[in-house]
Amino acid sequence: MSNRAVDAIVLVGGQGTRLRPLTLSAPKPMLPTAGVPFLTHLLSRIKAVGVDHVILGTSYQPTVFSDYFGDGASLGLELEYVVEEEPLGTGGAIGNVRHLLRGDTTLIFNGDVLSGCDLEAMLNRHATTGADVTLHLTKVEDPRAFGCVPTDGDGRVVAFLEKDPNPVTDQINAGTYVFRRAVVDSIPSGRPVSVERETFPQLLASGALVSAYVDSTYWRDLGKPGDFAAGSADLVRGIAPSAALAGRTGEYLVLPGATVSPSAVLSGGTTIGAGCVVEAGAIVHGSVLFDRARIGAAGSVTDSLIGCDATIGERTVLADVVIGDRADIGADVELRYGARVWPDAVLADASVRFSADA
Ligand code: GTP
Repeated sequence: MSNRAVDAIVLVGGQGTRLRPLTLSAPKPMLPTAGVPFLTHLLSRIKAVGVDHVILGTSYQPTVFSDYFGDGASLGLELEYVVEEEPLGTGGAIGNVRHLLRGDTTLIFNGDVLSGCDLEAMLNRHATTGADVTLHLTKVEDPRAFGCVPTDGDGRVVAFLEKDPNPVTDQINAGTYVFRRAVVDSIPSGRPVSVERETFPQLLASGALVSAYVDSTYWRDLGKPGDFAAGSADLVRGIAPSAALAGRTGEYLVLPGATVSPSAVLSGGTTIGAGCVVEAGAIVHGSVLFDRARIGAAGSVTDSLIGCDATIGERTVLADVVIGDRADIGADVELRYGARVWPDAVLADASVRFSADA
């Protein structure tokens, strides 16, 4: 499969506020999922469809990307970076890299979406319809939490609708696009532009052909802590596809240099990062332990994200929480329901119980 004439842009400049405090030390697409930065999975998908030239639109902590991926040669890619001094938004970021595009067709990705979308089929659809823009739309069970995107019988997008308690369709914008060069060139320079709120509605208003590629394959936006933990778990368990993880799926993933007691129980797609310690009788389910985190004896961690070098005390119970890097949570603490602990915080008091039934 070769799509050498196709360029790819990955939008990775967001601040990832919903994933704080973990995004204080690294941009969201660089947070570890199933043992590698999330972006590695996406770049591997791009490589697998035969696209070699990839531009990262960066803004927040730009050097973290270039320090890790360099020129992309280790992934068989030619990677280029463009840094926005001020964030230009999703549309502004696309326009801002126009000088590096080589062909007429560009695949564009939100840098935080985990998807099984067939990129080859989407590129074929774009070519055969002659569309100005082709959008990946995914069907979701409950579209009320999303803006939705209705299409006509020919697969042509007819509107971009805001969130609605009674949505007219279950199709939502899945955050992957194919743009013709002329559309990229039409994006205003030098100011923030939202591709969703400005570029797409303007294209429809001007009569451009905005075509849909609709599917129901795996799709998850990893922007929120629960989705991030679930997406990583799905990668570990092989439910979410990734060309970067061939042959590495199972109920859990323990990275080299981690120590897990034989009496600890790991399940639900948990990842134990390099240098972590999980002590006797601890239970870790559906969670991501970043490197060198420590779970004390008989601790219980469920559906949670535990930052680098964080320490969790004996018998402490964590469910659906985010623990910042180096935080020190003492013994017999209980945290639940979206609690977040900031980096370096110390919660040593066993009376700390953030839960509805405390
Ligand atoms: P939140 O702050 O938690 O909403 O996350 P976010 O900043 O990543 O925003 P959002 O999830 O809406 O962004 C979708 C994708 O676009 C992500 O991959 C972001 O990195 C990227 N993105 C958002 N804003 C910008 C921007 O101003 N410039 C660039 N280059 N990328 C952006």
